[in-house]
Amino acid sequence: MGRVAVVTGGSRGIGRAISVALKDAGYTVAATYAGNDEAANTFKDETGIPVYKFDVGDFDATQAAIGQIKSDVGAIEVLVNNAGITRDVPLHKMSKEQWDAVINTNLSSLFNLSRNVIDDMRAAGWGRIINISSVNGQKGQFGQTNYSASKAGDIGFTKALALETASKGITVNAITPGYIGTEMVLAVPKEVLDSKILPLVPVGRLGEPEEIARCVVFLASDDAGFITGSTISANGGLYMA
Ligand code: CAA
Repeated sequence: MGRVAVVTGGSRGIGRAISVALKDAGYTVAATYAGNDEAANTFKDETGIPVYKFDVGDFDATQAAIGQIKSDVGAIEVLVNNAGITRDVPLHKMSKEQWDAVINTNLSSLFNLSRNVIDDMRAAGWGRIINISSVNGQKGQFGQTNYSASKAGDIGFTKALALETASKGITVNAITPGYIGTEMVLAVPKEVLDSKILPLVPVGRLGEPEEIARCVVFLASDDAGFITGSTISANGGLYMA
């Protein structure tokens, strides 16, 4: 049995590609999801990867789910914090609920998940935490004060935890995808995507989920052991950090 990897938001979008790529690379993968039972069951049937339903923004629910995953497949050695949502709206129209939902799911989840796997990684003397941030956490984006703040926070979290774990054999890195062809991006109004976003992408296309998944597989590998606290941009040249 390969190393145990957990991918949050692992049944759809970029997360699905990450789950599949890790499985193909020999890992024992568990995928988590928040609410879409139909998509999760289809994913499970198609891939054979088990799914666990809980809210990554809820510490107690996360603790219980991690305990369950651990008893089902073993201690978690690779954690991919991928789950994320958008509630795009300019700040002057943003509700407190829209702010909180994005911060909880995209940022507090990193604490909730990492806190519940870090003791086992420290005890094992080996671990990988890979946080899926976003280009919009680096450059900002109209309509995304909540999302950009959460994704910038993911990068700060990555660097701080990388310092704490470097001597324990645990690496912590972030990936900042640009616009990838997933439901999340296709929910952006077409005229906004065509007129305000795609013209700014030098490679002239949306990215593919597998292009992010390949970065994750590399960071999870033993070959990437000297890389920690880094942020890998995969955005087609949209922003060069
Ligand atoms: N830059 C500059 N101006 C913009 C703009 C932009 N990116 N987007 C909209 N505007 C302008 C409009 O042209 C319009 O201008 P006028 O009033 O002069 O006509 C004005 O802003 C609209 O302002 P409103 O207050 O009416 O905005 P709205 O309530 O219609 O909301 C929005 C607009 C929902 C934010 C919409 O623009 C939008 O969805 N933008 C895309 C946001 C985005 O890129 N999200 C990324 C989602 S994918 C993702 O997040 C994955 C990842 O990690 C990359």
